[in-house]
Amino acid sequence: MRIIHFSDLHVWRPGLETGDLWYPKRMLGYVNLALRRKFKYPPGLGRAVVDEIARSDADAVVFTGDMTTASLLGEFEDAADLFSPLLEKWEDRFVVLPGNHDRYTPYTISRKFYECLFADRGPVTRTDVGGHWSIVSFDASRPYMVRSNGMISLALAAHLAQILREVADAGRTCVLAGHFPYDHPRGCREGLQHRLLGARRLIEVINEFKPPVYLHGHKHVRWVFQSPKTPDTVCINSGSAGLKSEDPLKRAGFVTIDLDDKGALQGVLACSARRDEEKFETVALC
Ligand SMILES: [Fe+2]
Ligand SMILES: [Fe+2]
Repeated sequence: MRIIHFSDLHVWRPGLETGDLWYPKRMLGYVNLALRRKFKYPPGLGRAVVDEIARSDADAVVFTGDMTTASLLGEFEDAADLFSPLLEKWEDRFVVLPGNHDRYTPYTISRKFYECLFADRGPVTRTDVGGHWSIVSFDASRPYMVRSNGMISLALAAHLAQILREVADAGRTCVLAGHFPYDHPRGCREGLQHRLLGARRLIEVINEFKPPVYLHGHKHVRWVFQSPKTPDTVCINSGSAGLKSEDPLKRAGFVTIDLDDKGALQGVLACSARRDEEKFETVALC
């Protein structure tokens, strides 16, 4: 089983959403975009990464959230346009879930911008790939007035456990995907404003069902990390697909994950844009 995993594309538009103009995060996000983000996420870079993915081979492709910057309708439309060649090539084996930037304000959630352009299949989604694998993705993103946290509620944890039980009962191996990390490698701590709240509940579910890998984004740096909190599950962060950076582990790109028929991780390759941003280079992460 070969999976291409990418995340945190962060397409952006300079507009404002009139329906929540005075919501604190809307105003802060607009200032942040004008001063910082529009320089860090040049639009051509994300498009080059998606084009490179479209030229690659895999059994499935997983996007783990933050396709937009501020959940503007135009940003969702741009992301849908970018994703169209992947949807055409992989159809329902292209799995997409929202990140906190795609659940930016209560107003944008009520307008269902995300659901209008991407399949609305509920907070937990199971996608069967071939006769042996299931990709289970979940949405832990919630709008907060200022913060960028996610939340594993009791209800979400119970729903996730139910789906993972169905996958196990069917004799299938699960690849789990969400937006937020539940643990971080040493030296890569997450601030209180960005953490996954209720992470303990996710860790309990993971330790019960033991998926071989957990795919996520949110923290814009690539890693393959064996968390001591989940000894049977390897955490894979694809990093950002749109970020301009001097650091090769943060530079825009994606990862390719190979698993054998028993679910053992065979290798993870990182493919990132070179400094000239026109060609890609590939390195083994494990
Ligand atoms: Fe992000
Ligand atoms: Fe995020």
